Amino acid sequence: MTARAPAPARSALILHGAVAPGAAADDEDTLVQVGVVTAALRKLGFAVETLEVGRDLADVARTVEAIAPDFAFNLVEQIDGRDALLPLAAYLLERARIPYTGAPAAALAASTEKTLAKRLMAAAGIPTPEWCETGMEAGQLSPDDGLWIVKSATEHASFGLSAASVVRADAVAGRLRRCTAAHGGSWFAERYIHGREFNVSLLAGSAGPQVLPVSEIVFIDCPPERPAIVDYAAKWQPNSAAYRNTRRRLLGAEAALLAGRLGQIALRCWHLFGLRGYARVDFRVDESGTPFVLEVNANPCLSPDAGFAAAADAAGIDLVEVVGRIVVDAGIRLPRAGNSATG
Ligand SMILES: Nc1ncnc2c1ncn2[C@@H]1O[C@H](COP(=O)(O)OP(=O)(O)O)[C@@H](O)[C@H]1O
Ligand SMILES: [Mg+2]
Repeated sequence: MTARAPAPARSALILHGAVAPGAAADDEDTLVQVGVVTAALRKLGFAVETLEVGRDLADVARTVEAIAPDFAFNLVEQIDGRDALLPLAAYLLERARIPYTGAPAAALAASTEKTLAKRLMAAAGIPTPEWCETGMEAGQLSPDDGLWIVKSATEHASFGLSAASVVRADAVAGRLRRCTAAHGGSWFAERYIHGREFNVSLLAGSAGPQVLPVSEIVFIDCPPERPAIVDYAAKWQPNSAAYRNTRRRLLGAEAALLAGRLGQIALRCWHLFGLRGYARVDFRVDESGTPFVLEVNANPCLSPDAGFAAAADAAGIDLVEVVGRIVVDAGIRLPRAGNSATG
């Protein structure tokens, strides 16, 4: 006997982190995604409501249960200004037994905490730059052991990153101390990888995750004394030189071999973390051609000007189809039969 297909869903609730008026550009970006996903879900035939997730999670739980949507589209990237708390929205949806899009709560928790993600990748044989998590470990680095970058373990979107984040081995412990004092949370140091930077986007399809065309991040005219990194200015300050000189370009056929290798590693990350729907894996490739995973972005940004949409577009997939495939991968049937958003 074949199982009966579930009835098509009708109502979607978009969850997103509350954005304070006058918030920084990285938080405002959430609202752009809410707009895009709302429009796509409506096109797919869903009735859409949205809900801000703030620090009062009991209130969010009550509201979600009162609305009782057929499913939730999870766009929560931070709660109460902390990316570290973002998995809580997914845990809350699990508790309410509401299906939701994107990575499962545990996968969000494991990938959002960069040092845990690195330990998992290293144990699975996925290459990631070597790192140290404490001032004590950093204190044991040999002073002439090259350059390191000090980053937040939990906050994303280039939080706290500038040219000053890249330091010599003998300055790592001091930088870790200063970042922790200035911002709180936990910070770690990772070996700085000279070389090229790439993003690999993955989108669920009927035959499993599809590797979308790979992009390179190119740093134009980066002065030799500055590290070529996507720091906060390069990502979020359109008036800065760093922003203007940091460009994304699709890899051409000449780089098919490299793109294929990066795609294979990205797929291993998908399976290791148990991702769902969509993801973007950030890489650096050193001067000898060795690739390293910097981080795994579960539920990456869906803004039209961000890397995921650009990669999908290069594969001939528009945002309505992206959203449809993400919904289908959450086990939801689309309301309109016969549309092509199933990959
Ligand atoms: N180990 C590293 N070597 C070289 N550059 C790095 C390294 N880690 C991070 N960067 C630079 O910093 C940027 C942001 O780091 P990433 O780990 O991707 O964090 P997030 O995007 O969450 O802020 C990267 O896009 C890259 O340009
Ligand atoms: Mg990144």
